Amino acid sequence: MSHPSHYPKPDPHVIVLFGATGDLAKRKLIPGLFHLYATGLLPDKFRVIGSAPQEFAMSSADFVKHAHDSVQQFGSIKPSGAEWDKFAERLSFGAADPDDPSPLVKEVEAAEKALAGGSKSAKRVGRLFHLAIPPSAFASVVGMLGSSGLAGNDAHVIVEKPFGVDLASAQSLNAAIHDVFDESRIFRIDHFLGKESVDNILAFRFANGLFEPIWNRQHIKYVQIDVPETLSIEGRAAFYDATGAYRDMVVTHLFQVLGFIAMEPPMSLAAKPLRDEKGKVFDALKPIDVRHDVVRGQYKGYLDEKGVPAGSDTETMIALKVEVENWRWHGVPFYLRSGKAMGQSRHTVTLGFSQPPLKMFRHHREDAPMGRVNEIVIDFADPGAISVHFMAKKPGPEMTLGATNMEFRYDESFTSANALEGYERLILLAMLGDQSLFARSDGIERVWEISQPLLDNPPPVQPYDKGSWGPEAVDKLIRPYHWHLR
Ligand code: BG6
Repeated sequence: MSHPSHYPKPDPHVIVLFGATGDLAKRKLIPGLFHLYATGLLPDKFRVIGSAPQEFAMSSADFVKHAHDSVQQFGSIKPSGAEWDKFAERLSFGAADPDDPSPLVKEVEAAEKALAGGSKSAKRVGRLFHLAIPPSAFASVVGMLGSSGLAGNDAHVIVEKPFGVDLASAQSLNAAIHDVFDESRIFRIDHFLGKESVDNILAFRFANGLFEPIWNRQHIKYVQIDVPETLSIEGRAAFYDATGAYRDMVVTHLFQVLGFIAMEPPMSLAAKPLRDEKGKVFDALKPIDVRHDVVRGQYKGYLDEKGVPAGSDTETMIALKVEVENWRWHGVPFYLRSGKAMGQSRHTVTLGFSQPPLKMFRHHREDAPMGRVNEIVIDFADPGAISVHFMAKKPGPEMTLGATNMEFRYDESFTSANALEGYERLILLAMLGDQSLFARSDGIERVWEISQPLLDNPPPVQPYDKGSWGPEAVDKLIRPYHWHLR
């Protein structure tokens, strides 16, 4: 399957994957690049160079084998035939340490020379660095890109979350990156922003006269952004225990989704107006009220997981209320929840609407319990769905109400074969130089700023059963409303 030829194609590119031997590269980045290639979306001329410090270095042949295994295990299409062979020809490996990047520098130079092909009419060759590396390595790798000259040639850099652990560290990380790259060349990736159904929030809100006029405090009583996961920490104790649910999910993914739900209509979907409007939402967020608006949970058995330090107070689930104090959203609570080892794996946004008086429907209380009607639910796990939950007359001689819903499902309505995974879409945009779906430094810093009260004084964790919806306090937090998922 290939995409229509009118889709923009990036210029020839050398893509360097730092952390090429790591988990993210294996699960998402290498399979994603192969999928982009197979669907005809990569530039006609490109090279992918895997990189890692010397102690993890491998030969180019071993990197090809590693890539093959990654695509075999995690790819949406499998590596076979001429398609794979042609992709594999474009892969190589170049080690780089902060004090000796020479193997990588040589590899990049050779790749660029090969792509430029010597002809005067040749297109420029873009450089894209993807830093799939631990946060502790960011500053030294970025510094090395600067000192080795690799950051030149208008190179773009993709930076993975977490973007710091608090305001001060986010500011110093941004300063370190800005020393080498100006903001227009930095692509802070949040893969939720590459999900089709998250971007569809903008289409749903702004392209429909049905929904656009009711998207405000006059009609909406509450918003829920709820991303429970059944997975536990899956052997990632060292990372997870130092991070916790708030930093892993909320401060990045959930706030980015909130930005799309709450923003004013941008002048256009170009990077500046879109990110300006998202930034205004973050500016309007009230600092978190830790005493009343936060529940931290820890699943029972977390402390027995291999690698978790005794007595750890890290939250594996968090629920909180935040407020966007502006004209559109004054008085509307936004409830956010995410956690591991919970009842279901879901990605949902729920908008709860005002209830009209129901006095004329004598039996409504028994027939249609409040909480699951008058709601629009956006399910943004791929392939995604949107449902409208409302009341209807039940068939029969009496006028009684029953709760029901209408549903749009992506996979039933469009050719979902055209869908790209979040990472794929975003890597493509970074090559095209389009920052619209990437996070900007001011927005990141503002979210850390309003998070500071919680980071300084986290309430103690409360235990919850694996497979549940969190500690009981989670239901109290949302009263008088109810979680749509429960
Ligand atoms: C990652 C988190 O950023 O997002 C993981 O580090 C989480 O803990 C994952 O499981 C969820 O992503 P997705 O796309 O599978 O919902």
